[in-house]
Amino acid sequence: MKSIIILGSTGSIGTNTLDIVQRFPEDFRVIGMTGGGNIERLEAQIRSFKPQAVAVSTESSAAMLRARCLDLPVEILAGEEGITQVAAMPGADLVISAIVGAAGLVPTLAAIRSGKHIALANKEPMVMAGKLMQDEARKHGVKIFPVDSEHSAIFQSLEGHRLEDVRRLILTASGGALWTLTKEQLQDVTPERALQHPNWKMGSKITIDSATLMNKGLEVVEARWLFSISESRIDVVVHRESIIHSLVEYTDRSMIAQLGLPDMRTPISYAMRYPERLPLDLPSLDLAEVGTLTFCKPDHDRFPCLNLGYESLRVGGTMPAVLNAANEIAVDAFLNGGIRFLGIAEVIRNTMDAHTCRDVSSLDDALEADRWARVKADSLVHAFSR
Ligand SMILES: NC(=O)c1ccc[n+]([C@@H]2O[C@H](COP(=O)([O-])OP(=O)(O)OC[C@H]3O[C@@H](n4cnc5c(N)ncnc54)[C@H](OP(=O)(O)O)[C@@H]3O)[C@@H](O)[C@H]2O)c1
Repeated sequence: MKSIIILGSTGSIGTNTLDIVQRFPEDFRVIGMTGGGNIERLEAQIRSFKPQAVAVSTESSAAMLRARCLDLPVEILAGEEGITQVAAMPGADLVISAIVGAAGLVPTLAAIRSGKHIALANKEPMVMAGKLMQDEARKHGVKIFPVDSEHSAIFQSLEGHRLEDVRRLILTASGGALWTLTKEQLQDVTPERALQHPNWKMGSKITIDSATLMNKGLEVVEARWLFSISESRIDVVVHRESIIHSLVEYTDRSMIAQLGLPDMRTPISYAMRYPERLPLDLPSLDLAEVGTLTFCKPDHDRFPCLNLGYESLRVGGTMPAVLNAANEIAVDAFLNGGIRFLGIAEVIRNTMDAHTCRDVSSLDDALEADRWARVKADSLVHAFSR
C-alpha cells in the first residue's frame, strides 16, 4: 500500500489519479490533497478518500471548506504555505504534482526536499527551475517519474537501454485544436474554438498551450531536464492521432516508441506503480481499426511558440522561467478576451526580448524571474489588447 499526496486533486490530472486510486484501493491510500477554489469538488473528494490534511489556495476557500467538513477528521490549511505544508507532510511515499502553472513550483520543490518521490504532471516548475529540481532530487534520493504522456513514453522507451546509445528524443504533438487553420483564420479564433482539443480532455491552460504549440515548447524544456539531454537532440513531429506518444532514436537508427489510446490514466498509473503495471480496464488500441498514422513537421510560421521554447533553452538561465510566466499571463488574457490568439506569441516574444538573463542557482532566482516576467507581460497585454 502506497501513501500518496495529490497536489491539484480537483483538476483533470487530479481526478484521473483519484479514478486510479478508486480502482485499486489495496494499492493506494490518499493522505493529503490540495485544490485551488473548487470547494464543492474538494469536499466530495474528502468524503470519498478521507485524507488527513487538505489545503486550498485562499483563506476564504479554506473557511468555506472547514464549514462544510465539520463532521470529518481532516485538517484544512490555506495559501501557498498550507499547500506546501501538505506537499511535505510526513508519511507519504509519492506526491502527484498536478497543480497547473508556476503555482506548483514551491510545493513540488518542498515535496522533493522532504524526500518524497514525485509523479510529475505539472511541467511548468521543471521549465522554470529544471536544474535546481533535478539537483535537489539527487541530493534527497528522490525519483521524478514523468506523467506527461510524451515523457512517460520516452521514459518507457529508454527502459533497459544505455543513455549513451540514445541519438535523439522525438516528442509527438497532436497539433491541438487549430492545426488546420490558416494564419488569417487564427487571427479571429475564439477561446471556445481553441479549447476544442481533438484528442485529450484537459484543463483550459494546457489546452490553449496545445493550440499554440507552446505545450510542446514547454515539453522540450521538460525533456531536457528529465532526461539530461541537450535541446539539439530533442525533435518534435506532429502526429494528429495521438497514438504514438513519443519515440527514442538510438545510435543504430532503430526507434522505440510507446503507443496507446489517448487516456492519461495509463501514464499516471505507470508513474504511480513503477515498475509494475496496473491492469487497467480500458479499451485496447486496435491498430487495424486506426488504419493510418500520419506525421508531419511543425509549422513555425503559424505556431511560433514551439521555437520560443527551444530558444529559451539555448539562452538558458532565467529565460525558460520568463517564457513560462509570460505564457501564463498571455494565455489568461486570451481566455478572458483581452488579446487575440496570435497575440499570445507576441507577448511572450516581447517579454523574452526585454529580459536580461541571469543564472538560476536558487528558488528565489526562479521566482524573481517569474515575478519580473509577469509584470512585463501584463504591460504588453495592455499594449496588445483588442
Ligand atoms: N490534463 C492533462 O491531460 C495533462 C497532461 C499532461 C500534463 N498536464 C499538466 O498537469 C498540470 C495540471 O493540468 P490539468 O489539466 O489537470 O489542469 P486543471 O484541470 O486546470 O487543474 C489544475 C489544478 O490546479 C489547481 N490550481 C490552480 N491554480 C492553483 C493555485 N494558484 N494554487 C493551488 N492550486 C491551484 C486547481 O484547483 P481548482 O480547480 O480547485 O481551482 C486544480 O486542482 C499542468 O501543469 C499540465 O500542463 C496535464
